[in-house]
Amino acid sequence: MQVIIDSTAKCVNQAAERFSALLRRKPDAVLGLATGSTPEALYGKLIEQYKAGIISFKKVTTFNLDEYVGLNGDHPQSYRRFMQEKLFDHVDIDLKQTHVPDGVHTTPENAADYDKMIEAAGGIDLLLLGIGNNGHIGFNEPGSSFDALTHIVDLNESTRQANARFFASINEVPKQAVTMGIHTIMQARSIILMAFGAGKSQAIAGAVTGPVSADVPASVLRLHPDVTMFVDDGAATDIKV
Ligand code: F6R
Repeated sequence: MQVIIDSTAKCVNQAAERFSALLRRKPDAVLGLATGSTPEALYGKLIEQYKAGIISFKKVTTFNLDEYVGLNGDHPQSYRRFMQEKLFDHVDIDLKQTHVPDGVHTTPENAADYDKMIEAAGGIDLLLLGIGNNGHIGFNEPGSSFDALTHIVDLNESTRQANARFFASINEVPKQAVTMGIHTIMQARSIILMAFGAGKSQAIAGAVTGPVSADVPASVLRLHPDVTMFVDDGAATDIKV
């Protein structure tokens, strides 16, 4: 695992360049995408590059990590809506080629069909991850099995609190989500994790220097052959070298 520590802006630029280089080399790449605050600036850079004619999304296929249970794609806080607003509506992507887990129709029995769709698309070339304050990746909370495929999870109270900023009140934050499992994530050929701000510093320290353990789900990434973490100065403060 490679850990790059730099300013937030330089982390964003470098991560965006990795996506851009992939799309120039492989215009029909399969991307894994995240929502939340962390990837917003990166999506902004990719939109800029699209508008400048440097990259195209015409042949790209995407699979998002997760979606809230109970929110349909029109809900303002749904991750489908987030992706439309932050990326898809601004580039030439074919919406039929964009996939976000279905927050309404997914059941425990059919959730892993998402893995079959990823496999049928040829697997994920490059997957983007953020990290929760508690070390979660996707919505795989501490204690999650490393063997899990896409499944429905109960969100930790700390995750609901962290995400309450996007909702009118904590009561509106869904209690469950559909998420790629850790096994699904580890199947991606290449992974980029971005972490910004001091709030992520303990999770990053645990992931980078602690034991590989379900207590810090992101630590599993150390077992993957091609992971780059872009960590800004704030998020790097607890890494002890
Ligand atoms: C989002 C996701 C989550 C977030 C994480 C960090 O699709 O899977 O793991 O990446 O909760 O969220 P932000 O970036 O809002 O701090």
